[in-house]
Amino acid sequence: MLGQFNFEKFPVLKTERLILRQLTLDDVDAVYAIRSDYEVTRLNIGAAYIILDQARILIESILDNYQRGNELRWGITLKDGDDTVIGMCGYNYWARRDFRGSVGYDLARAYWGQGIMTEATRAVIKFGFDKMALNRIEADASVENVASIRILEKLGFHQEGIEREQYFEGGEFHDLMLFSLLRRDYELTIRK
Ligand SMILES: CC(C)(COP(=O)(O)OP(=O)(O)OC[C@H]1O[C@@H](n2cnc3c(N)ncnc32)[C@H](O)[C@@H]1OP(=O)(O)O)[C@@H](O)C(=O)NCCC(=O)NCCS
Repeated sequence: MLGQFNFEKFPVLKTERLILRQLTLDDVDAVYAIRSDYEVTRLNIGAAYIILDQARILIESILDNYQRGNELRWGITLKDGDDTVIGMCGYNYWARRDFRGSVGYDLARAYWGQGIMTEATRAVIKFGFDKMALNRIEADASVENVASIRILEKLGFHQEGIEREQYFEGGEFHDLMLFSLLRRDYELTIRK
């Protein structure tokens, strides 16, 4: 049945190579390693972390927002690994009234280019349509973020437009590309 998810039990997701699980405060070092790399944050959240406490604050806020039923973000680990979080993927918000959520992700640089985030995001999208009863999943990416745009295209997202000079980073304004995947797109193409 659709829309049953109620934030009671954290939904662990498994894919061919990955386990997506809840973040805990034991993941502070791993999250710091990801977010202190400017190559990871540059096209995404801006300034790289410079102190460990920023990772702790992020995890605490993710856990708190989960408790409030506002945000659902998974820590990505490798099935064949040691449970270290190598990235994060999830819904930054869930506008229940409109059956709409927004996905975002980031991955430690050492794991780029192996299809990991496409695999993780595919599972997160399936969860969104199947368990959260979403009708529309939104995403955005810097026009320079070729890898992120490619992930969204591979997953069937439609480009909706460009917000010109939407954010300021590295002394310059940058354009942001908007994407969406509707339930009907998903049912027609991806799920088949
Ligand atoms: C974006 C990010 C999550 C991608 O993760 P990933 O696991 O490497 O992505 P995938 O391997 O699943 O897919 C990336 C695709 O982009 C392609 N790609 C990557 N860099 C590219 C480049 N410079 N030029 C052309 N294609 C590129 C890859 O070839 C792949 O496409 P393919 O499967 O058709 O070959 C990762 O680079 C990251 O964490 N970046 C920093 C944070 C960030 O930008 N987050 C997103 C904010 S919108």
